[in-house]
Amino acid sequence: MTKLRIRPPAHAADEEYVAKYQLATSRMRELDKDSFDPLGFKQQANIHCAYCNGAYKVGGKELQVHFSWLFFPFHRWYLYFYERILGSLINDPTFALPYWNWDHPKGMRMPPMFDREGSSLYDDKRNQNHRNGTIIDLGYFGQEVDTPQLQIMTNNLTLMYRQMVTNAPCPSQFFGAAYPLGTEPSPGMGTIENIPHTPVHIWTGDSPRQKNGENMGNFYSAGLDPIFYCHHANVDRMWDEWKLIGGKRRDLSNKDWLNSEFFFYDENRNPYRVKVRDCLDSKKMGFSYAPMPTPWRNFKPIRKTTAGKVNTASIAPVTKVFPLAKLDRAISFSITRPASSRTTPEKNEQEEILTFNKVAYDDTKYVRFDVFLNVDKTVNADELDKAEFAGSY
Ligand code: C2O
Repeated sequence: MTKLRIRPPAHAADEEYVAKYQLATSRMRELDKDSFDPLGFKQQANIHCAYCNGAYKVGGKELQVHFSWLFFPFHRWYLYFYERILGSLINDPTFALPYWNWDHPKGMRMPPMFDREGSSLYDDKRNQNHRNGTIIDLGYFGQEVDTPQLQIMTNNLTLMYRQMVTNAPCPSQFFGAAYPLGTEPSPGMGTIENIPHTPVHIWTGDSPRQKNGENMGNFYSAGLDPIFYCHHANVDRMWDEWKLIGGKRRDLSNKDWLNSEFFFYDENRNPYRVKVRDCLDSKKMGFSYAPMPTPWRNFKPIRKTTAGKVNTASIAPVTKVFPLAKLDRAISFSITRPASSRTTPEKNEQEEILTFNKVAYDDTKYVRFDVFLNVDKTVNADELDKAEFAGSY
């Protein structure tokens, strides 16, 4: 049995580790001299580009590994090979990628090892306003907020609680929509892919200076920033954490998912075909995560008071508000729930999902909207740690 590679939280890594990781990354960058070396840093980044910018077709349709149930397994396998390549470049078979622990207050900033100019882990194409310990907003879609730092961290924990616990009680919500052979790409994201995965990309990328938010803010260039792999290590860690929460939080059993395949190069430059079914257990694949507490897990929002109660009869029903409502400001409406006063076992048995069909928006821009339920006069949209906050989309 070979030793497990234990991925450490990036903010807590010691200098010895950072030196090793820097060395491995600079060796990988040196391989770019031969632009066809599959182990080169740019070629590794191009793998990501290839799987999301239309390089492959499956069943006559463009392949896209985002916006569907392929998101978690593709990135797990991608990191798996990337990590082995780095390890082999420094002859360390136990080398493990660090994870950007953005779900814990200590990790809610750019990990310092990536923010040292001149290091192989540094990338110039990042938002300069987000360096030097700026607190990250896990719901960031391009708009700076003047929410106090402590409230941003609180909001982050609330978002994590929503995306991992209440809004992802079952596989289809967590992994994203089904994408079997022959169907259209991008059927829909899972909770974590949507938030915080996408906001972390946008927050890191250099949208003030680069046209397409390069590097992290765009698929084709994201892999060119070494921080990508650190970000995705934590995304991947959420997969393991999610299953640990229990209930119906298990891997999908659908055959189309289990048999989906990807191609990569291993550390010996051999092409390798892998299947989703072989990446469900990270320990079996040879890696695991150094534990960190997950404070979002019991981050139940503050209990409702009756202080700001509004008269429900004064709120327009959904049929009056839609289909013409414009979401350029907060709008409220009332809906009738199909069943109320359900028992806990009944709630566990059947999810209650509210879907908005046909929300038209400009898809060349990032758009986010927040949903609050049973809103009353005490609700302030900058504070997500309230029972009324249902989630962000
Ligand atoms: Cu393949 Cu974070 O994107």
